[in-house]
Amino acid sequence: MIVVIGSINLDLIASVDRLPGPGETVRGSGFATAPGGKGANQALAAARAGAKVRMVGAVGKDSFASDALALLRDGKIDLSGVGETFASTGTALIMVGADGENVIAVVAGANDSVVPGDLSKAFLKNGDVVLLQLEIPLQTVEAALDAARTAGAITVLNTAPFHGDAAGFLGKADYLVANETEFDLYGEALSLNGRDRPARMRDYAARTGRTIVATLGPDGVLAATPDDLLMVPALQITPLDTVGAGDTFCGYFAAGLAAGLPLDQALARAAAAGSLACLKAGAQPAIPLARDVDAALQKSTG
Ligand code: RIB
Repeated sequence: MIVVIGSINLDLIASVDRLPGPGETVRGSGFATAPGGKGANQALAAARAGAKVRMVGAVGKDSFASDALALLRDGKIDLSGVGETFASTGTALIMVGADGENVIAVVAGANDSVVPGDLSKAFLKNGDVVLLQLEIPLQTVEAALDAARTAGAITVLNTAPFHGDAAGFLGKADYLVANETEFDLYGEALSLNGRDRPARMRDYAARTGRTIVATLGPDGVLAATPDDLLMVPALQITPLDTVGAGDTFCGYFAAGLAAGLPLDQALARAAAAGSLACLKAGAQPAIPLARDVDAALQKSTG
């Protein structure tokens, strides 16, 4: 079982020719809403990868809540750990430019009310994979890492969005997944040693005894374990919308670990899924099905 403890949002998405600068107004060319939130996106990605998934989180008692949960329900994710609060359902205001780049402002709302006491709804047990991000209160994330360890579960922590205050507990996660910007910022906060990113990743893995995975966009994925450094390529694609690509990677990666795949295979499948997620608009609507990921992976490896 994969247990995701994290955020649930409704994404309000405007398409623009180019992203505006500060104080500038640009004309939008399209608008859509779609279910999102890093936790929910990762839960759906893990389910589409073939895993059994339970989600712990919170939504508001408002009209956005059912839209935010719609695809998780369709994906047969266990939502018994999702509470309802008087705060509004989390929302993300997203602008996507014609080049696929985006800017996002997240209003946490109900996600801020996911507290350590909610971890009892996770029913953690030995062998579970617990998947976490940083869009719920940090004390809940740290308590989840501790609870997972006590239960004998494996933990995967996605370091998005960046929070300097999280640096102190990152090493509690068995697998840390950061994009290159996040890794560089945490690397500074942790005073990692090394001339370049791979060397600093090796330093992190040696100091913590854990695995660190850095997603590098079109350049693929780099991972450092205490004994090894692995490089996995991304698929060659022209991105339409990169929102949720990192979440797709994390969900597929956790599903690979839960299925007992060796690290290099779990990374390769996750990297292919993350690439395919860039070919469609929206976060959750763009998460690929396992059969499409496996077909793309087979094609790319000949
Ligand atoms: O990672 C993409 C997600 O970040 C979006 O779905 C949005 O809700 C924000 O949380």
